[in-house]
Amino acid sequence: MTEKRISRRDFIRFSGIGTAALLGGGTLVNFLSGCTTQEVVSPTATSGISGAAAAESTLPPGSGISGVEPDVEIAMRAVPSKISILPGEPTSVWQYQAELLKGPPGTLQNLPNTYLGPAIKLNTGQQVRVHFTNQLSEPSIVHWHGLHVPQEADGHPRLAIGSGETYVYDFQVANRAGTYWYHPHPHGRTGPQAYYGMAGLFLVSDEQERALGLPAGEFDVPLVIQDRTFDRDNQLIYMGNGIMTQMMGFLGERILVNGQPDFTLPVATRPYRMRLLNGSNSRIYKLAWEDGTPLTVIGTDGGLLEKPLQKKYITLAPSERAEIWVDFSQYPIGSQIRLVSLAFSGNDGDMMGGMMGDASLPQGAPFTVMAVEVAEKANSSTRLPEKLSSFSHYMAADAVNAGSPRTFTLAMSMGMSWTINGRTFQMTDVADDEIVKLDTLEMWEFINQAGGGSQGRGMGNMMGGGMTLPHPMHVHGLQFQVVEREIDPAFRGAWETVSDGYLDEGWKDTVLTMPGERVKILLKFEDFSGLYLYHCHNLEHEDMGMMRNYRVVS
Ligand code: C2O
Ligand code: CU
Ligand code: CU
Repeated sequence: MTEKRISRRDFIRFSGIGTAALLGGGTLVNFLSGCTTQEVVSPTATSGISGAAAAESTLPPGSGISGVEPDVEIAMRAVPSKISILPGEPTSVWQYQAELLKGPPGTLQNLPNTYLGPAIKLNTGQQVRVHFTNQLSEPSIVHWHGLHVPQEADGHPRLAIGSGETYVYDFQVANRAGTYWYHPHPHGRTGPQAYYGMAGLFLVSDEQERALGLPAGEFDVPLVIQDRTFDRDNQLIYMGNGIMTQMMGFLGERILVNGQPDFTLPVATRPYRMRLLNGSNSRIYKLAWEDGTPLTVIGTDGGLLEKPLQKKYITLAPSERAEIWVDFSQYPIGSQIRLVSLAFSGNDGDMMGGMMGDASLPQGAPFTVMAVEVAEKANSSTRLPEKLSSFSHYMAADAVNAGSPRTFTLAMSMGMSWTINGRTFQMTDVADDEIVKLDTLEMWEFINQAGGGSQGRGMGNMMGGGMTLPHPMHVHGLQFQVVEREIDPAFRGAWETVSDGYLDEGWKDTVLTMPGERVKILLKFEDFSGLYLYHCHNLEHEDMGMMRNYRVVS
């Protein structure tokens, strides 16, 4: 049986057919194991339905209600739906739909013609309540990626709710202005759920940002970049069942922007703010303007930079964001400018992909992402500010463990699964070296182990645990700062095809760690104690268990 056929069957199964078979946790496990491997769906994936809250005694079951009156109240649901993406048959998707129950009109912004959920637009300081109802036939939970929220509101997989259940989130928007986002986080099923359409932007604004007078309204353009593969009937194919695809991460053969293929953005001859989100499961983009114009970067995962930055290209790994400033005033009407992804290397996976006949658009292959069409004249006095924001820089010397960073080694185990310090995810497990203290600044180091040590990088070695791939490492609950990178000389060549595109100058919640690379970050655990996650944001790696808890203790 080909991979394609397996995957298509997987999609049909999860698009609503056979819903009855999914009722009840035990049944779900049996049902899934009929078509997947243990690595894909471990029994813990479903234990979250009832046992989750109980396992973490500090949490009230099924709810994060704080009792504080919300300024904004939203009813949100995850539902199967259909949408026209390609000409012909509509595509079955899963999506977030939302309704504003209370709060300023404009809090929810629906993007046109897309499976993506509405952009949720909030201000720092607002108290938010979200009633999330799961209308899928399998457990799910929403995670607010990049937000600094209490553990009850973080969407940890142990909080996943079953079909028909509702989870209430209560939190205050503590983050500074920036481009954050939301997506599902049930253990073992984040990859497919996000792939079938569940994701949306979470845009925060604040005083400091508004004072800059950056392009707003239609001139502030969200661009969510994803890759998808369609079958002949326009249905999404997810190759989540193949163990090779799991190990490498899913790579789609078509690029979608805001859920649309061949995306073209009509613009006027004036400046724009563009918010780029890599919402792909595992694809990394090396973004550049095709005509060689440098990109003017104004923001990263955690909001605006201190000052604009000129880049030949931006390396954007899954879940990373970059905000750019683009001024089209010099372009003649009718001109087209393409945003492309340039070729890069650094994937043993290239080899694996070719071998498996998978990924017609391999990781690192060049392609067009979208086009911009200069369609009308405009006059604007908007200028790029020289200074965008100010924030404090963590000092390595202030870290409680500056001399000996907490290290996290990323490697493939002999059992063919991606691991962090040799471990995989267990729902509520926290190892001794995963406990941190509230109100401390720490240094962490992610080490992407180079090719399995001395064994070389041959085929046998890949199967035996030496395969190396990029890992975008994400930490929940906070924004961190990148302080140092080091590359193993054997991997320098490949590394240099992406390293100029890193945006280490700003606040980050995800940091790409290339093969042979070590990255040091500084993070501060503030305000909330409890159980949070850190993981690889290659969603197939995450679903395989390349994810761990860390606990903040007071
Ligand atoms: Cu986008 Cu666990 O996160
Ligand atoms: Cu996150
Ligand atoms: Cu990974």
